[in-house]
Amino acid sequence: MTISVKNLNFFYGSSQALFDINLTAEDGDTVVLLGPSGAGKSTLIRTFNLLEVPKSGDLTVADNHFDLSQNTDAKKMRQLRQDVGMVFQQYNLWPHFTVMENLIEAPMKILGLTESEAQKEAMELLTRLRLEEHAHRFPLQLSGGQQQRVAIARALMMKPKVLLFDEPTAALDPEITAQIVSIIQELQETGITQVIVTHEVGVARKVATKVVYMEKGRIVETGDASCFEAPQTEQFRQYLSHD
Ligand SMILES: Nc1ncnc2c1ncn2[C@@H]1O[C@H](COP(=O)(O)OP(=O)(O)OP(=O)(O)O)[C@@H](O)[C@H]1O
Ligand SMILES: [Mg+2]
Repeated sequence: MTISVKNLNFFYGSSQALFDINLTAEDGDTVVLLGPSGAGKSTLIRTFNLLEVPKSGDLTVADNHFDLSQNTDAKKMRQLRQDVGMVFQQYNLWPHFTVMENLIEAPMKILGLTESEAQKEAMELLTRLRLEEHAHRFPLQLSGGQQQRVAIARALMMKPKVLLFDEPTAALDPEITAQIVSIIQELQETGITQVIVTHEVGVARKVATKVVYMEKGRIVETGDASCFEAPQTEQFRQYLSHD
């Protein structure tokens, strides 16, 4: 199991945002988190690399185990962050670095690659994501979809075991969305585990091996991709019917 979450509770100050969350994902799964705005999807995905630290529960991600009622050890946290890549809506590319520099910085600093090793891997990835001609541009000279693909490439440079996406296709046109979907599908073949928050049911249907539907900080329904056709709860059925 790559991801195992047990009895997880998360609070913003005194306000509880996640209630007794339990879920698992196997190697190679693509877990899609769905639910209305404010359901807690972003909060939950951010707990998977402890960008948000829950108050209680057990979290295991890529063999990194945390008992969240104890203090989290900084060294274990760093290992977790290495194993778990993320691509969030605000792409967070470094604006003063070129695409190439954005890609090679962390692998050189954290994985100890030489500059030429890192550049070679970066060029391979950029080629795979059809970005090779943009290697020496700055992020602001790229379209939103190109920036998003650079953000994916940058995350992949760290060879993560788990990749987290929060609304990776928000604000992208249908063609770019299709490109992101096909990247996610290609990554599925590599055995990496992906977790994707999306409002786009169409995207979710194309990639999900596992579906998690949330409302108000709670998981309402989980299942495999067949639950798009046969939702088990009235809430998820309603949600799908609005799409
Ligand atoms: N930094 C914060 N401080 C306090 N409350 C927050 C914070 N971030 C989110 N919340 C609250 O936590 C709940 C879950 O928010 P979250 O962002 O996880 O929802 P979401 O499902 O990702 O919604 P959306 O689809 O709109 O992105 C909401 O009620 C939200 O107002
Ligand atoms: Mg969100």
